[in-house]
Amino acid sequence: MQEKIIILDFGSQTTQLIGRRVRELSTYCEIVPYNKMPENDPTVKGVILSGSPFSVYDKNAFKIDLNQISNKYPILGICYGAQFIAYLNNGKVEPAGSREYGRAHLDWVEQNNPLFKGVKEHTQVWMSHGDTITVIPQEFKKIASTDKVEIAAYQVENQKIWGVQFHPEVFHTEDGTQMLKNFVVDICGCKQDWSAASFIETTVAELKEQLGNDKVVLGLSGGVDSSVAAVLLNRAIGKNLTCIFVDHGMLRKNEFKNVMHDYECLGLNVIGVDASAKFFKELEGVSEPESKRKIIGKGFIDVFDEEAHKIQDVKWLAQGTIYPDCIESLSITGTVIKSHHNVGGLPEKMNLKLCEPLRLLFKDEVRRVGRELKMPEHLITRHPFPGPGLAVRILGDITAEKVRILQDADDIFIQGLRDWGLYDKVWQAGVILLPVQSVGVMGDERTYERAVALRAVTSTDAMTADWAHLPYDFLGKVSNDIINKVKGVNRVTYDISSKPPSTIEWE
Ligand code: XMP
Repeated sequence: MQEKIIILDFGSQTTQLIGRRVRELSTYCEIVPYNKMPENDPTVKGVILSGSPFSVYDKNAFKIDLNQISNKYPILGICYGAQFIAYLNNGKVEPAGSREYGRAHLDWVEQNNPLFKGVKEHTQVWMSHGDTITVIPQEFKKIASTDKVEIAAYQVENQKIWGVQFHPEVFHTEDGTQMLKNFVVDICGCKQDWSAASFIETTVAELKEQLGNDKVVLGLSGGVDSSVAAVLLNRAIGKNLTCIFVDHGMLRKNEFKNVMHDYECLGLNVIGVDASAKFFKELEGVSEPESKRKIIGKGFIDVFDEEAHKIQDVKWLAQGTIYPDCIESLSITGTVIKSHHNVGGLPEKMNLKLCEPLRLLFKDEVRRVGRELKMPEHLITRHPFPGPGLAVRILGDITAEKVRILQDADDIFIQGLRDWGLYDKVWQAGVILLPVQSVGVMGDERTYERAVALRAVTSTDAMTADWAHLPYDFLGKVSNDIINKVKGVNRVTYDISSKPPSTIEWE
């Protein structure tokens, strides 16, 4: 059985990062809402309490009964987690006199404390809290200080309970991973046996058990998540899985053909549906971005539903939902699931049970699983692509001609990124067709044609993004190629906005 660390989420923005760090140690963990601690689960080896946007004194602060876990598992409280444990034991937590945000150094640590094994002197840590612990309870001992924060870390004497007011999970805490390793591996005794191979083995066994001889449908998008989910399910249940790939006509140039070919080579049982005419018709004359999205979302569900009904006795709908799609920092109401971008509404409409084999994986882990499943590299490293496709990159209404222009320009940009070894250096790239025409001159002719914007960003999760600082030579070459080869375009611009305040897509 797979051992795990439980991370109780009190709503901090860095809770997901704690999960990532623990997984990077090849130890398995699950992030659960603060009040959903699993009971009597023999695979749990330790518990981490995350930070929180609240102060322990807030009326609405998230609270738990610590006795439920304190005698059973080693505990590490981070920031609010640490303050909460101290507060519950009659320690004093007060608003910090000076703001305690950003870089600090552990000027003093208890040398032999197991939490600090292998941590260098004066190591840099990252603080981010408005409250601070000023007095710790008698049975607690201070184990680290910075110049401003005396109780930067503590341990409850003779118990396996630690609290740190800094954030070991963030990149700027230099020895943070080492501290987490000390906790997870040495203190909790987790084996470092979580790997893509072990995930595949357990998941395939679980899927066989869960699905038995049932039939399953899955919507493929060409993206890495749904593709990996399909290959994994194919391994578990073979021909009982039917994949449906809908072409809404707004895919990249030749994408439908190429991706279908890839899927067939992977041995998937896949039905390709060319529904582009339906979508073009429904989108005719529509320019408002949300309306375009809704038409495509609904059209997709209708086409998928119709195809799925042609298969007898389907019981399950599988989706490539991944961890970040499921975890949202908690709202007061404790909502944890956000609907999947592309197929929201499908499970309700189809009245099928939901199967989401990747729901506990981060994107980079999905990619590792894909590699372990021997999927082709170009499928695994594909950039994210929005569900409504080029429809949200054509500003204004959509026509077949505009799609053709955009596909050609996009193809030159993406192929250029590949040729120059830049494709894997950016998170996502594409071209936007602008609703403006401008004057140009080609040969002796005056032109009055469209402008496009190139967009390329760096990011780790699409929540924030910076514009990619692509080489000028490259941008110059792409601009030239687009204007020379794509009929209808005479001007190329480069989008240098970051997110926030802009977004990655223009619509
Ligand atoms: P934004 O534009 O909000 O995009 O910065 C963040 C990420 O989400 C993708 N995106 C979408 N994906 N359906 C999707 O499946 C959509 O409607 C949609 N809108 C944006 C976008 O490409 C980026 O990766």
